[in-house]
Formats: sequence, structure tokens, C-alpha cells
Amino acid sequence: MREIKDMSVLITGGGSGIGEGAARLFAAQGAKVTITGRRADKVAAVAASIGPACQAVPGDVTVQRDREAMIAAAVAHGGKLDVLINNAGNMYRQAVGQYSEDVLKQAFDTNVIAAMMLSSMAVPLLEASRGAILFLGSIHNRRAYPGASPYATTKAAVEGLSRVMAAELGRRGIRVSCVLPGAVNTEINVRAGLLTPEESAARYASMASDHALGRIGSSTEVAEAMVYLASADWVTGVSLEVDGGLGLGVSKF
Ligand SMILES: NC(=O)c1ccc[n+]([C@@H]2O[C@H](COP(=O)([O-])OP(=O)(O)OC[C@H]3O[C@@H](n4cnc5c(N)ncnc54)[C@H](OP(=O)(O)O)[C@@H]3O)[C@@H](O)[C@H]2O)c1
Repeated sequence: MREIKDMSVLITGGGSGIGEGAARLFAAQGAKVTITGRRADKVAAVAASIGPACQAVPGDVTVQRDREAMIAAAVAHGGKLDVLINNAGNMYRQAVGQYSEDVLKQAFDTNVIAAMMLSSMAVPLLEASRGAILFLGSIHNRRAYPGASPYATTKAAVEGLSRVMAAELGRRGIRVSCVLPGAVNTEINVRAGLLTPEESAARYASMASDHALGRIGSSTEVAEAMVYLASADWVTGVSLEVDGGLGLGVSKF
């Protein structure tokens, strides 16, 4: 296992939720962490609360000059780049029959193409450090949620992408894997109206009970899997379900 200490880690979407959890865990283990997000105040607040190990770089992953700035800032902060975590993402829900091409393009721009571009740009740096790329898939790749096909399609895309990249980059010393979280109580689900315990305790309890372990997960629990994949030297091309057993599709009959 590689030591996380002194690794330079770039986490997109690190101003909230799972990305924030990852920033806290990697920094706690001694990494130099760079976090990004469009809301400058969010990333700045998270970085300030973590301390000097973490720097905030506001930016939009769909904008090429912002992507260049993120990578350059991570190298300036950590002296190299060891781990790229393509975590930034949004939930896109539209029923079949009501698709809007604009929404579909936005979903792919944010959840897929931005991650492809950042990964491509990071290859020389990760080759030099024998580093790793991580993607965020979803248990939407294992279970079918009606109305969520735009989101699920983007998450299936990054899972497939992760396997091909792993095959393509293995001989260059770069490991590539994908984490598939179950339901975690973050802004993405609140924005989608899926996890708001105050507004809908019954719905929250029902979603929790879909997990074999009977509960929603935490950002830290997903981040722990990221730390494992960042440090495990002989693991690549893996889709790691970190989902409390949601993907099992446990029958309620
Ligand atoms: N929570 C879950 O249940 C769950 C389950 C499976 C997979 N995931 C995946 O986990 C990842 C993190 O999501 P989360 O649950 O932690 O939700 P979140 O709190 O909403 O985090 C998403 C982050 O992405 C950033 N982001 C979105 N669009 C961006 C853009 N164009 N440029 C830069 N940053 C952008 C957001 O910051 P700004 O808005 O400030 O840009 C936000 O900090 C996502 O890829 C999501 O699909 C989550």
C-alpha cells in the first residue's frame, strides 16, 4: 500500500458532500489536497476549516481554462499530482418522453466529458508519480430508478470509461478505478428532492431500508474507499460498490 502522506490529491466538487469528506480524510492522513467547485465561498470555507494542507481553487469543471488552472494549482500546492478524484457531478432526472437535449448535454458535459478531459490532461503528471484516477459512478448503475435515466446513463458511462482507462494506462503505471456509492445524505439528493428527512421522514426511512445494512451512508464512508483505491498498488479497473448493500436489490417480499 502506498502512503497517503505527502500525496498531492485533486478533488473536484470538494466544497460539499462526498468530495468534502474525501478532502478531510486525505488531509487528515497527510496529503496535500486541492479542492474545486463553482461556489467559491463553499470551497474556501472547507479549505479554511481543514487548514494549510488544503487549498481551494474555485472553478467549473466544464470550462477548459478552469480545468487547466485546477491542475496547475494542485501541482503548485503539492509539488506533483498523485491522485485525481473526478467527484464533481450533478443529478439529472427527466422522464423518457420528456427529454430536453440541453439537459442531456449538460449532464454529459459535467458528469462525463469534464472527467474525461481532466483525466486526459493529468496523464503525464500521474505517469510521473505512478498515481491514480478515481471516478464516481453510482448504484444507479446497478438498480433502475425510473426518471433518472439521464443521470444513470452518465454514471454508467464513467464506470465503462474507468475500465478502459485502466486497461489503457496500466503499463504507464497509472491505476484507474470507480467508486459506486449507495445513498449518501448530501446536497445532490436534497436538490433532487430525494433525501430530505425533515420534509419526508417516511421516504427517508424507505430509502434507508433499501440498503441491506438498513441505513444511508456517510461521505466519510465513501472517502475511506477512495483512500484504499488511492493507496492499493495492485488494484486497478475496479468498480467498488460502497453502498451498504443497496446494489444487492434486496427483495422486500
Ligand atoms: N450522494 C449520493 O447518494 C451519491 C450516490 C452515488 C454517487 N454520487 C456521486 O458522488 C459525487 C459527489 O456528489 P455528492 O453526493 O457529494 O453531492 P454534492 O454535495 O452535490 O457534491 C457535488 C459537488 O460537485 C460540484 N460541482 C457540480 N457541478 C460542478 C461543475 N460544473 N464544476 C465544478 N464543480 C461542480 C458541486 O459544487 P458547486 O455546485 O459549487 O460547483 C458540489 O460540491 C457526484 O459525482 C455524485 O453523482 C453521490
